[in-house]
Amino acid sequence: MAVRGVGLLTRLPLCVQRRSRVQLPILRLLSCPGTVAADPRREEQPSGSAETGSEDKTPKKRFSEGLYAVVEFCQKESVDSLQNGAHTPSMSTEAVIPFRSRYFNLKLKNPSNQTSQQSHIQCSNQLPPSSKKIFELLRCAESIDDQLNSLLKEFQLTEENTKLRYLTCSLVEDIAAAYFPDCTVRPFGSSVNTFGKLGCDLDMFLDLDEIGKLSAVKTAGNFLMEFQVKNIPSGRIATQKILSVIGECLDHFGPGCVGVQKILNARCPLVRFSHHASGFQCDLTTNNRIALKSSELLYIYGALDSRVRALVFTVRCWARAHSLTSSIPGAWITNFSLTMIVIFFLQRRSPPILPTLDSLKNLAGAEDKCIIEGNNCTFIRDLSRIKPSGNTETLELLLKEFFEYFGNFAFNKNSINIRQGKEQNKPDSSPLHIQNPFETSLNISKNVSQSQLQKFVDLARESAWILQQEGQDRPSPSSNQPWGLAALLLPSIANGMALARKKGKKPINETVKNLLESIKSNSAENSTNTHRK
Ligand code: CTP
Ligand code: MG
Repeated sequence: MAVRGVGLLTRLPLCVQRRSRVQLPILRLLSCPGTVAADPRREEQPSGSAETGSEDKTPKKRFSEGLYAVVEFCQKESVDSLQNGAHTPSMSTEAVIPFRSRYFNLKLKNPSNQTSQQSHIQCSNQLPPSSKKIFELLRCAESIDDQLNSLLKEFQLTEENTKLRYLTCSLVEDIAAAYFPDCTVRPFGSSVNTFGKLGCDLDMFLDLDEIGKLSAVKTAGNFLMEFQVKNIPSGRIATQKILSVIGECLDHFGPGCVGVQKILNARCPLVRFSHHASGFQCDLTTNNRIALKSSELLYIYGALDSRVRALVFTVRCWARAHSLTSSIPGAWITNFSLTMIVIFFLQRRSPPILPTLDSLKNLAGAEDKCIIEGNNCTFIRDLSRIKPSGNTETLELLLKEFFEYFGNFAFNKNSINIRQGKEQNKPDSSPLHIQNPFETSLNISKNVSQSQLQKFVDLARESAWILQQEGQDRPSPSSNQPWGLAALLLPSIANGMALARKKGKKPINETVKNLLESIKSNSAENSTNTHRK
């Protein structure tokens, strides 16, 4: 996966590789947001404007020029010689910062020579599939299980997209290395935990620990040689200072880094920016090593059973389609919280589909031991030593039960806790309490408002009801009707019950009947809860 030192991103006019004196093995041409390729998200949406799951974390600014190619070389020296063969452009009206990156422009010496060879170029799209395509795919699926698996296949990050994420990190690393030559910049979060959807943001971790390790080499004799360093009152202030400077650097010198925002007063300080060529919205952090561990933990959970990722992707798409999640920070539930909720649900099945975090900790060996800032982040990482689940429930059943379970969950008194895999009393009055798996005193969904939680509960109940109805009268394969998962992703599901009531349909089983009754008393309860806050 490592592309460090061997990759470059280049914006090029079509066919230039044939004419260039440097023979470049072009691996892939990428059509990024706003390049010459059409943006499929602009296609007409079926039945209103359901967004099936595009995270829309791609840069808001549209760029109009060119195609991009990622070129991979066998030897690092080739990149050096390419850099030596490139020159800094001279502008007649503007000045330039002479920064030598691995991000190049290729220009034809004689643009009039550009020929029809353009048609040979195959572009690869890095954007999520359009709603139209998804609805079509879901309509043609054979079963609800098939629908969930198709959704996963369409939205999951491709190997190429993942490589592009590593490459983008390495380009940022080049900039940070101007101050910290031995630093590394690594992706974490949904870019690597296998729960990322095409279009999701790129969380980057600036790792400065290697620098400390290099200087910890033992020296003989009576003296210990230390670097003279600046003393800073706290680790948080040090983090803020480092990110502030790197942020400035990205803003002023970073080719392709646009819209740089320094968000240094957040609990976890970060620099947010858009990376032009890759189209990624990037969040650069440092000093949050625990987030790397939770990414690793989610990776393990995703790999343990094939149903986990299919269910998480479906719930993420469902939440996005109903605006329960948003790319704008606010009082909404996040994808990370949704993933925790699904993992918790799968731990509660009988027999459990996923083990608790405590049991993964008990299985851990000495090599897995990990304590970060006093928090025990130990869990087994060897998948082959975790016993597979004996549970054989279908995805269809799990989805239905998921909505019923959370449509009736006592959020007002219970906390979700994947460490123990069981509800616990809420330690505070936050509407939604999901315990951070490693920093157990923290609530990962502290930002969620009562009204957003209520919206989640209402939609879960309605979705449970729709799936219940679906089981009874599924449209014929030749009909154009959205069914199963497609019906759940439509924006009109909030009106679905009213519609069905009009038709005189009655929910069949008791659970669903109870759900409906609880919806009726919902608004009153909701306003009481909100006032209690
Ligand atoms: N994280 C955390 N505690 C939080 C929020 C985030 O530990 N309250 C960590 C998790 O490891 C998470 C990562 O930071 O995976 C990145 O956060 P975020 O980008 O919000 O979530 P993703 O899992 O990357 O999901 P998305 O696809 O929405 O970006
Ligand atoms: Mg993320």
